[in-house]
Amino acid sequence: MKSILITGGCGFIGSNFIRYVLEKTNYKGNIINLDKLTYAGNPKNLTDISKKYENRYFFEKADICNFQQVKDIMIKYDIDTIINFAAESHVDRSIFGPKDFIETNIFGTFNLLEVARELWKDRDGVLFHHISTDEVFGSLGDTGYFYETTPYDPRSPYSASKASSDHLVNSYYHTYHLPVKLSNCSNNYGPYHFPEKLIPLMIMNILNEKPLPVYGDGKNVRDWLFVEDHASAIWLIVTKGRVGESYNVGGENEWENIQLVNYLCERMAFYLGKEKDYYKKLINFVKDRPGHDRRYAINCDKIKNELGWKQSVNFEQGLDLTIKWYLDNQEWVKEIQSGEYKNWIDKNYQKR
Ligand code: NAD
Ligand code: TYD
Repeated sequence: MKSILITGGCGFIGSNFIRYVLEKTNYKGNIINLDKLTYAGNPKNLTDISKKYENRYFFEKADICNFQQVKDIMIKYDIDTIINFAAESHVDRSIFGPKDFIETNIFGTFNLLEVARELWKDRDGVLFHHISTDEVFGSLGDTGYFYETTPYDPRSPYSASKASSDHLVNSYYHTYHLPVKLSNCSNNYGPYHFPEKLIPLMIMNILNEKPLPVYGDGKNVRDWLFVEDHASAIWLIVTKGRVGESYNVGGENEWENIQLVNYLCERMAFYLGKEKDYYKKLINFVKDRPGHDRRYAINCDKIKNELGWKQSVNFEQGLDLTIKWYLDNQEWVKEIQSGEYKNWIDKNYQKR
């Protein structure tokens, strides 16, 4: 690998991944970050990186749905590896309006695959790695796990669009022999997480003593993974995983939402010098999300046994790192909330 195209590198996981590869691996080649800069894309996530690695890190503002833009960038940098993070990623937004999800997640992935198929027709040593989610597997009851072999059963427009893109990626492997790999990961958390998602939303609302909206009975379960551990898993799969395979990645760390929100209240009280239960009065049970998946839980034995991956931090450590990051980076959040994100929140959430 000499020239890796990261799509969606200005988002939460993409920016953490770029930082991880440049700072913590022995990769010596270039990284090209192709991002459309939607409401969720923030080039400031990588300001330090773009200065420190100005000869190896390049940013291109472009849309994965635009064939010519992608093709020009692939040729310009002689790309040999694509890692596709670019997506519309928020389930609630997919319920309010699925169109962008269909366009970017399905058509955009198709478009990237088409450019790769054309440019890499006779080329060895190339790879298309697709970043996906455990949400494609649907919803679990009280027991059981998602395995790589679990049949897809997506329930939200978001997960349906991701499932669709996964199927397209696999179809290009079987039909055109495009070298592909996939990873399906559980819920991530950590620095640069967009503050519409559960953990950063709760941290910021606690800080500002605003209501903490818990959907339904709060007993939905998610399996949380620190974002840098997702990055290390992707790097292992890209460099050592088998072509044509998919790998589950997870935290082995299941929490009910209400249990997690209570814990965040306690940790924030610790950092902000309040009594342990001070912030719990802010918890506000609200109308449930339509089609709200009850439980996600990943079995990640395959990546552990085959590639030797493991999580590097436990949830308590990862959450403390995350809380400290948000307390130290309040300007980052304020800037986001004053722009397009805030307009969207005002428009859509008033309706509920
Ligand atoms: P994010 O919303 O924070 O970032 C998405 C990025 O993609 C943004 O920078 C955005 O500008 C860019 N983008 C969107 N549409 C684009 C387009 N048409 N062309 C180019 N760029 C575009 O998302 P995230 O949480 O970082 O998720 C990244 C990937 O990981 C997604 O594919 C998501 O499905 C997957 N994933 C996320 C989680 C999670 O917990 N967040 C878990 C598993 C898998
Ligand atoms: P989210 O961060 O949106 O991730 P996903 O839906 O992809 O799992 O939500 C995580 C869980 O938290 C999910 O069960 C929905 C719930 N949730 C709330 O209860 N309140 C909120 O304000 C949000 C954003 C999520």
